Amino acid sequence: MHTTALLRAARDARLAPSILNSQPWRWRTGGSALELHADPARQLPHIDPHGRLMTISCGAALHHARVALSAAGHEPVVDRMPDPGRPTLLARITIGPARPPTSESLAAYDSMRRRRTERRPFAADARVPAEALTRVRAAAEAERAHLYVLDSPDVEYLRYAAQGAHTITAHDTLAAAELRQWTHRDNAADGVPPATVVPDAPRPVPVRDFGLGAEAELPPGSGDDSGAEYLVVATSGDEPADWLGAGEATSAAWLTATTEGLGASPMSEVVEIPGARVLVRTLLPTREQPQLVLRVGVPPACGPPPSPRRPATGVVTEG
Ligand SMILES: Cc1cc2nc3c(=O)[nH]c(=O)nc-3n(C[C@H](O)[C@H](O)[C@H](O)COP(=O)(O)O)c2cc1C
Repeated sequence: MHTTALLRAARDARLAPSILNSQPWRWRTGGSALELHADPARQLPHIDPHGRLMTISCGAALHHARVALSAAGHEPVVDRMPDPGRPTLLARITIGPARPPTSESLAAYDSMRRRRTERRPFAADARVPAEALTRVRAAAEAERAHLYVLDSPDVEYLRYAAQGAHTITAHDTLAAAELRQWTHRDNAADGVPPATVVPDAPRPVPVRDFGLGAEAELPPGSGDDSGAEYLVVATSGDEPADWLGAGEATSAAWLTATTEGLGASPMSEVVEIPGARVLVRTLLPTREQPQLVLRVGVPPACGPPPSPRRPATGVVTEG
């Protein structure tokens, strides 16, 4: 029985990134297994009607739990989508043979606790080292997804996709209402705090406008995003199992980027709006399914404030 280790991994996995910090997951331990369930009550019905971003978020939490177990010297054995009759049951984790933690798993665990969404523009004078980008890509590719680094001409097309998505969202009152709901929480446990959002500013590729206006509190600094790289996480299929894999790959890439001293923020508007998604798809040499874009760069020395998490009691059930 490894109940204590599994419980600890589930608690640590609360640190995973999620769409609008909705934390749409539940964990259940049953003796020797830990189950990950999507929590449809936390799905964003308008922004994410099919649950793709919810499932990607759960995939990130699954990868975080795997990292926590590996760093504690336990080999995680994962059965994904184990019961077709229960679609919200996304994974069942058991523990394999003991295995001493590697320096990589310890570094990833450390990064789990330091990683934050960095929304400030990245400075032009600090480029992302090519070797760091290679390691970030390798981390994602070791999961069940691919990661493509866009070259300069393709970044121009990403800009068109992001501008289009931006314009459509700006005229969507239901999307605005959902954004408002998740940026104005009456609890201190979930949602996107205005202290982590920068005011709207011109950038080569626009990022999500949370609609906060003057309420966005994070000073943007002097960067203009000309030092940013744009990475596309993609999968060959577009089913829930692919979304889960994309989430695991996103987490693997993001934790590696953190270890490399890089900052990152996802850009999901370009996959939420179908027309923008089609355009991003044409940028991939394989015409795979784009699942998320990560904006990556060299961050300011001092990180942004943390976003809250729900207490373990609301997320992890024993029994
Ligand atoms: C699937 C997914 C989509 C996301 N989309 C965006 C986005 O479009 N813009 C953004 O600024 N952050 C985005 N994020 C980041 C979340 O807002 C962030 O993870 C959450 O607020 C928690 O903050 P933290 O990452 O600093 O812990 C996304 C995260 C995930 C997992």
